[in-house]
Amino acid sequence: MRAKQQRLYVNIDHVATLRQARRAAEPDPVAAAKACEAAGADGITAHLREDRRHIQDLDVERLKKNVRTYFNLEMACVAEMLEIARRLKPQQVTLVPERREEITTEGGLDIISEPARIQNAIDSMTDDGIRVSLFIDPTRAAVEQSKKLGVPAIELHTGTYSHHPGEGAALEALRDCARRGADLGIAVHAGHGLTVANVGPVASIPEIEELNIGHAIISRAVFIGLERAGKEMHEAMRTARSS
Ligand code: PXP
Repeated sequence: MRAKQQRLYVNIDHVATLRQARRAAEPDPVAAAKACEAAGADGITAHLREDRRHIQDLDVERLKKNVRTYFNLEMACVAEMLEIARRLKPQQVTLVPERREEITTEGGLDIISEPARIQNAIDSMTDDGIRVSLFIDPTRAAVEQSKKLGVPAIELHTGTYSHHPGEGAALEALRDCARRGADLGIAVHAGHGLTVANVGPVASIPEIEELNIGHAIISRAVFIGLERAGKEMHEAMRTARSS
């Protein structure tokens, strides 16, 4: 398959993490989103967590007004968040699992044991004109269930690969699920734990159209600035894809 152009969506949650450390006004995630866009980001992702540990309600409202590229709101599949999305109407919602005690999103959404809850959320977002993506573990069962649920997009969890980049099985699972997703007509995204050092093999999977990357870019930005950090990641993706 000829590789489609691949988009980089920058997750700016950790700009808000730094701000919330002092409950201050700076650094502003909206200003960060603008810097990422200036550096060529194709979209901006933010996760409004139920515990509001980083991104706040006002942030997502301001992001919706100010993001000029594409706004992808990550959120749990719960009534409160669905109501916020319905009101805000981001271009895309990515449904993720959420546990208060976790440090970050730890696994894919369980779409097998509670399909009705997920289906209702998908239907209601879709009726409101919001594109829905499901953050899933890279298993064939989850990809096939996503097809049954009728979502236009899935995001493959790259956490296992990121933590064990030397193990071929995790990468092979991503390749296999990306292929299966594309064969079923689903747009395939990926993300979690990707860095300049490990992004190459994932970026070069031809069916993956979009990468959502946060922590590595924001961490690197502390040393070289956000624009350069964004460009550096984009470059690493492009190099891998074109080689
Ligand atoms: N995609 C999803 C669904 C996520 O929950 C996260 C983490 O917030 C990311 C991508 C980005 O992960 P990282 O910050 O490790 O790049």
